[in-house]
Amino acid sequence: MTVSSATDQKPFLYVVVCASGVAADVGKLINAARQRDWSVGVVATPLGLTFLDAAAVQEQTGYPIRSTWRSPGEARPLPPADAIAVAPATFNTINKWAAGISDTLALGILCEAHGMGVPTAALPYLNAAQAAHPAYARSLEVLREMNVMIGSYEPHRPKAGGGADRFRWEEALELLEPRIGRRS
Ligand SMILES: Cc1cc2nc3c(=O)[nH]c(=O)nc-3n(C[C@H](O)[C@H](O)[C@H](O)COP(=O)(O)O)c2cc1C
Repeated sequence: MTVSSATDQKPFLYVVVCASGVAADVGKLINAARQRDWSVGVVATPLGLTFLDAAAVQEQTGYPIRSTWRSPGEARPLPPADAIAVAPATFNTINKWAAGISDTLALGILCEAHGMGVPTAALPYLNAAQAAHPAYARSLEVLREMNVMIGSYEPHRPKAGGGADRFRWEEALELLEPRIGRRS
């Protein structure tokens, strides 16, 4: 296993949460990760933050949710990441990430993670109409070239209630654990 940056020696997982209908269930991933001996910190996009129960997430992780850049001189609120799970990953954030746009803290972290060599998995959650846009396939291709692991969720039908019941949060851990020398 890689040496953890966290003071408690557990590997530290950033869960990047985007503004999608399933974001409110991110506690499922946090629980699963903690049970598998990760420490967890959540970074939400500014809109993603409005989809979450922030108090519950902070209680679960023991860390403040990050959503905006810190001020110069302010202490870093989270330890460095040993791995990153983007879950749920929106159409918007996937396309901006692949294009190198860094206009949210979440995207800033993701855009740098590649150069820092931080293992990263993204679990897209979007509908088939969004996925049909030609930019989406190109973005996934770019992210794969960047060694980002992509989850297996098949986009749901638009305007049909989504597919939260088949969104496998723990897939992020299954993808990441072998990359940090843990068996999944
Ligand atoms: C209730 C609601 C549910 C949404 N669900 C999704 C979704 O499942 N997937 C998606 O890609 N966008 C979804 N969107 C659209 C995104 O919120 C929108 O594209 C936003 O700009 C994404 O911002 P972010 O990528 O910075 O989090 C949803 C919007 C709303 C209001």
